[in-house]
Amino acid sequence: MSQENEKRSAAIEAVKLIRSGMTIGLGSGSTAAYMIQELGKKIANGLKIRGVTSSKNTEKLAIEARIPLIALHEAKIVDINIDGADEFDPYMQLIKGGGGALLREKIVAYNSKCNVVIADSTKEVPRLGKFKLPIETIPFATGNIIDLLAKERLKPQLRKAGNDLYITDENNYIVDLDILGFTNLAQLEERLLKIPGIVETGLFLETTHKIIVGHGSSTKTIDR
Ligand code: A5P
Repeated sequence: MSQENEKRSAAIEAVKLIRSGMTIGLGSGSTAAYMIQELGKKIANGLKIRGVTSSKNTEKLAIEARIPLIALHEAKIVDINIDGADEFDPYMQLIKGGGGALLREKIVAYNSKCNVVIADSTKEVPRLGKFKLPIETIPFATGNIIDLLAKERLKPQLRKAGNDLYITDENNYIVDLDILGFTNLAQLEERLLKIPGIVETGLFLETTHKIIVGHGSSTKTIDR
């Protein structure tokens, strides 16, 4: 079964967790897009939920799918947040932000009672780091951050979008880091967040409650 079918199967399985009356966190990326599509179908058939979006792109997809939206602060707390991941390891730790939405995604995850990750089987890895770790940086500080992290063997790469720099929904930059040589990820996260100008990292170390992985023609669920 293709990667796309695995993404769709994981998304459909996750939507089964949703009940009328819930507030749902709507993640970003291609796997989350399948979830939004599926949710749209359920809403057309009478499901009553409200969504909180994690990116401008997701907002657009949610409006197309006719999902009623509310602001995060209006929701106060999200019942179930469903989002994708670029990598997950056996400890349910994630790298996210391949699509550049890590900051809002982390904010929504932090404000959710239950975080469900949906992924195709290629995202499962024995240890994080083959995928470059995205961090979101304030433009004013980014040059200095890159110089500093280069000295710390993180091989920082400023993300581009074609010939231009990649700009996030919060008007920041993304720098991608090579973290393969780093085993203590909590320490790395702490170190990175101490540097002024690094707004957030794509390491989601303790937020995930459930991972639904598309596997061939079925799905596998991992619970914390
Ligand atoms: C968006 O910034 C990301 O965190 C996505 O959740 C992640 O990149 C997974 O995307 P796909 O579902 O497209 O693989």
